[in-house]
Amino acid sequence: MDSLKIIGGNPIKGQIKISGAKNAALPLMACGLLFNKGTLTLSSMPNLADTKFMCLLLKSLGIKADIKNNVAYFKGEPTEYIAQYDIVRKMRASILVLGPLLTRLGVAKVSLPGGCSIGTRPVDLHINALEKMGAKIELANGYIEARAPKKGLIGSEIYFPKISVGATENTIMAASLARGRTKIINAAKEPEIIDLAKCLISMGAKISGAGTDEITIDGVEELSGCDHRVIPDRIEAGSFAIAASITGGELELIECDPMHLLSLSKLLINAGVNWENTGKTIKISSDGNIKPISVETSEYPGFPTDLQAQFMTLMTIAKGNSKIVENIFENRFMHVPELTRMGAKISLEGGIANVVGVNNLNGARLMATDLRASISLVIAALKAKGESIISRIYHLDRGYENIEKKLINCGANIQRFKE
Ligand code: UD1
Repeated sequence: MDSLKIIGGNPIKGQIKISGAKNAALPLMACGLLFNKGTLTLSSMPNLADTKFMCLLLKSLGIKADIKNNVAYFKGEPTEYIAQYDIVRKMRASILVLGPLLTRLGVAKVSLPGGCSIGTRPVDLHINALEKMGAKIELANGYIEARAPKKGLIGSEIYFPKISVGATENTIMAASLARGRTKIINAAKEPEIIDLAKCLISMGAKISGAGTDEITIDGVEELSGCDHRVIPDRIEAGSFAIAASITGGELELIECDPMHLLSLSKLLINAGVNWENTGKTIKISSDGNIKPISVETSEYPGFPTDLQAQFMTLMTIAKGNSKIVENIFENRFMHVPELTRMGAKISLEGGIANVVGVNNLNGARLMATDLRASISLVIAALKAKGESIISRIYHLDRGYENIEKKLINCGANIQRFKE
């Protein structure tokens, strides 16, 4: 198993090109199940464990799928309707094939993704939306078994009692080929939803309102392939911005979208970091003196849960106390015991972390637990005094392309090795 050895203390200085967004790429890849003419070509496809899993999953469903040099190609029609446990258990986002399979084949059987380390993560909202469109759904032997009405799913009005990115995506994809109009009320507004809608519109879908809380989809008879470029990864960009801030660095993030990071930029500016946007570039510089800032996570355009662990790491060395509230996932504090082992002072009370800033962190042996907890440990180790060893970094490879290469180019002392 791969581990990382990091010797902290070097400021992160230089330039990093931001990769395509994992969370945009996965639903876009699921669109590979939806069309019957041409090829779907997705450029700026990040080379990650998760995008490879999604490619394998689509292949297992009969699609001709391939990823080469950051471009993914999809062709053909689904011939299988079962998404097997072996693939789904490795990646929760596999649930995104449920809507496309059902609307395309009239039948779908997808393994229940189960819990994960950041919380229970149910799929009731996905299921309820498809039921509202006429699907009959049963849960049996660990699988979701879904059947559409004979003539296909029926456009309906769907109200989500809770905002869900994945359920909004599944519903948009299913509704694109349903009969009639679907209205999603209380939809997720993330940039990844807008990107999915843009791609589907290029494929021939009729969608309006993506990026607002009400999305309207008029079902069409068929969709065709198209060429689409995946949006830049705002979470990767935000993670590197925090790495530069904590180490007193000077970083230029290129090929990113600063407008997707407004919530983080406000926080970092208030914390004393210089942040400058020019077109598709963000320049960050910091003297390493960080003011304490309290924050709570919320749905877009609020502060993303996917940057909570990284921001908490920054707050561990702030000059004072801060409070970080996690509102999206109930158990997303797996990084806290590890940061504490590095000398951070954090106490937890339910979904609230109280952080008392310390002068510096100390290197330690660390265990990566989930994707965003893992990058927060990398950031902590880049700042810490001495050496850190982070094991189980396969989580990092799920979401960060060429992580150590990008950081080494900016002066980090970081090395991958097999334990
Ligand atoms: C997506 C992102 C993930 C991010 C999350 C929140 C992808 C591949 N992953 O995950 O990185 O952290 O959005 O921004 O895009 N919920 C239910 N029932 C459901 C579905 C969700 O109760 O059927 C709850 C979840 O447990 C959670 C909240 O809704 O508390 C938001 O989850 P959701 O937006 O669905 O997250 P994902 O789409 O799984």
